[in-house]
Amino acid sequence: MVSICHQRGVPVVPQGGNTGLVGGSIPHHGEVVLSLRRLDRLGAVDQRGREVTVGAGVTLAALREHARQAGLTYGVDLASRDSATVGGTIATNAGGMNVVVNGDTRRQVLGLEVVMADGSLANHLGNVVKESMGPDSLRLMVGSEGSLGVITAARLRLLSAQSGEQKVTLIAVEQLADGLQYLTPGVSAVEFFSQACLDLVIEHRALSSPFPTAAPFYVLIESAALPAVPDTAMAVVDRKLWSYRETITETINQQGVPTKIDVAIPLGRLDEFVTRVERLGLEDDVYLYGHLAEGNFHVNVVGGSDAVEVEDRVLGVVIELGGAIASEHGIGVAKAVWWRRSTDPAVLAINRRIKHTFDPGGILNPSVFWGG
Ligand code: MLT
Ligand code: ZN
Repeated sequence: MVSICHQRGVPVVPQGGNTGLVGGSIPHHGEVVLSLRRLDRLGAVDQRGREVTVGAGVTLAALREHARQAGLTYGVDLASRDSATVGGTIATNAGGMNVVVNGDTRRQVLGLEVVMADGSLANHLGNVVKESMGPDSLRLMVGSEGSLGVITAARLRLLSAQSGEQKVTLIAVEQLADGLQYLTPGVSAVEFFSQACLDLVIEHRALSSPFPTAAPFYVLIESAALPAVPDTAMAVVDRKLWSYRETITETINQQGVPTKIDVAIPLGRLDEFVTRVERLGLEDDVYLYGHLAEGNFHVNVVGGSDAVEVEDRVLGVVIELGGAIASEHGIGVAKAVWWRRSTDPAVLAINRRIKHTFDPGGILNPSVFWGG
């Protein structure tokens, strides 16, 4: 199909589970949507080599279950695991809950099979775990959001499954920086959410309040051993505490259409960012949550304010603090203008040349990065 589109100059938008939040997997100007979901082949797990080759349409949940049956695990996990696909998560270099211990999706990819813009098939799935054979050009597909090629299969690293039940601890903190002390060996997730998020899920999810008094933020730690929590801090331990964190997105969505802003802030400036967002005086409801270990904030704003204006104001603060305007949801169409504005011009020029080399006719997901 890609070769027909190439011959006729028809733009194509590759689509996996369509769980993206930046408009990167939907048509904006009448493009043909190419769903990869039927490429759901699960190859046999190589237990010795700890790897597996799967189709791009396999969901994260199916991949994780497949690995689990072989006594292994896949390093990336997201709340949208039942719909998000391997191809989509590679195309956006998705992060998720376990980046602190396993790294992002880029770290899990051993090889790729890709349909190029002219419809030819490029195979660099490979067989070995390390090689030294020149530039790995197909690796540029990771994070390219379908703008350089269409990922059809991937060879992925698998990891030893955690032995023993992981402990989940929720700790109330005055400042986000206080949560960074829990970034210690044996920790597999360090998540955070604000009091506004907690109030929301308690009200709408029939969850009880975990603490007698409120705090500005809560840090959720998943770890092999219980974290060393100071006597003065409020903390509770229970695996079910994940539901406070995992239901935030869905509960916010039920309040109205949120403006969703995914950003990364340098770890030394987390609380400065919180203060600066407060000072913006946004009149809407602001929910802050995310992945503390990477300084990854999901700023969700619900109310009547103009989404573009809200985004511009928040992203302006991010740039001033030396942060990144996209941490794990990608650039898509929503952040394209900001991406071009905040990327070093020399780097942008290289990206333009790469796009032209891989896709001279500009048919692959033309709106991401370069539209908007
Ligand atoms: C999460 O970490 O829960 C998601 O990346 C946030 C979202 O879907 O907004
Ligand atoms: Zn996230």
